[in-house]
Amino acid sequence: MSSVLGHHASFDPASIIAERAKAIDASGIRKVFDLAATMKDPINLSIGQPDFDVPDAIKQRAIEAIENGRNRYTPTQGIADLVEPVRRQVEHDTGWKQPGVMILSGTSGGIMLAMFACLNPGDEVIFLDPYFVMYKHLPKLVGAIPISVDSYPDFRLNAKTIEAAVTSRSRMLVICSPNNPTGVAYTTAELEAVADVARRHGLVVLSDEIYDAFCYQPHVSIAPMLPDQCILLKGYSKTYAMTGWRLGYGAGPKPIIDQMIKLQQYTFVCAPSPAQYAALELLHSHTVDMRSHIDEYRRRRDRMIEGLGDLYPAGDPQGAFYIFARAPGSWSGSELVRRAISKNVLLIPGSVFSDRDTHFRISYAASRDHIEKGIAVLRDLALQAEG
Ligand SMILES: Cc1ncc(COP(=O)(O)O)c(C=O)c1O
Repeated sequence: MSSVLGHHASFDPASIIAERAKAIDASGIRKVFDLAATMKDPINLSIGQPDFDVPDAIKQRAIEAIENGRNRYTPTQGIADLVEPVRRQVEHDTGWKQPGVMILSGTSGGIMLAMFACLNPGDEVIFLDPYFVMYKHLPKLVGAIPISVDSYPDFRLNAKTIEAAVTSRSRMLVICSPNNPTGVAYTTAELEAVADVARRHGLVVLSDEIYDAFCYQPHVSIAPMLPDQCILLKGYSKTYAMTGWRLGYGAGPKPIIDQMIKLQQYTFVCAPSPAQYAALELLHSHTVDMRSHIDEYRRRRDRMIEGLGDLYPAGDPQGAFYIFARAPGSWSGSELVRRAISKNVLLIPGSVFSDRDTHFRISYAASRDHIEKGIAVLRDLALQAEG
């Protein structure tokens, strides 16, 4: 198009991309998705969401909400009918007194808002490697520095190694239990030791508990141990299989949550209205019971360990729906995944979640049939690698 001065101004859209966007590398996981798209009926053990559907009672509430005109903006912090019961639940679970509470557009939204609210440029954010990818990349959006702490080979939460990573610039510690990608769930003793580190060094702890329902031992939260310096994030995505509905909640000290609400006002605006109204169904606990699903996932975890544990060391996965296993022989994680893909089994290389390339993630959010086929292929590959 001609400009008013009559010459053609050419504009290269790539030239406008900011350094902060360039600093984020999503190529690892994208490669896996691209591969999945080329595979025909893969045995897909790479999925990060439940393979059951949203419970009917919740779906019905969402449909009613839409039909009854609940289609507009809600208050930024969420509808009061949901916020207040969530606040009572948090008070009950944590012993906190009158925490700040907000409904989020997914737990992801909460991770981003917490970082925007608490981090200045140059501040350091500590988290364990292997990590959920957002922990490494979102700090960069605010000019903060991600500091990963190696947790191989057992992926436990170790207060000593965390403390060794603390500097005068450390400001936030992110923990995730049960963990993605390792499936490890932390013990009271581990969490208490880390809470002590946080207290002594003045760190705010971001506790991502999105997999709390998928815990095959009693779930322990760090939140009750840190009433003044923990941001607790929980989600509906995994528990109720509504990853596409974008709903979660955050709780914590009021001064922090108030800032997160202010930032939500100018970013996400509010969590999706029909999803918030649908979540009211969960206040009647007798209509939605996820126990049979959780029990089934526990059985699948047990079967995976029984089928692969002798050949693939993987720590002690007590939660979520993942196993983070070591590649056999001298193979890297990527090599194992490449060979599994050639046998139509899709897995995620550990390098997507880690600075190392020694492991791979198995998701057992898959059918029994696929789990059995996956075990058979992985057993063959291990024998080949040890060959
Ligand atoms: C550890 C962890 N935190 C947060 C999320 C994001 O969940 P949400 O759908 O609530 O944004 C995920 C999703 O995979 C996750 O694995």
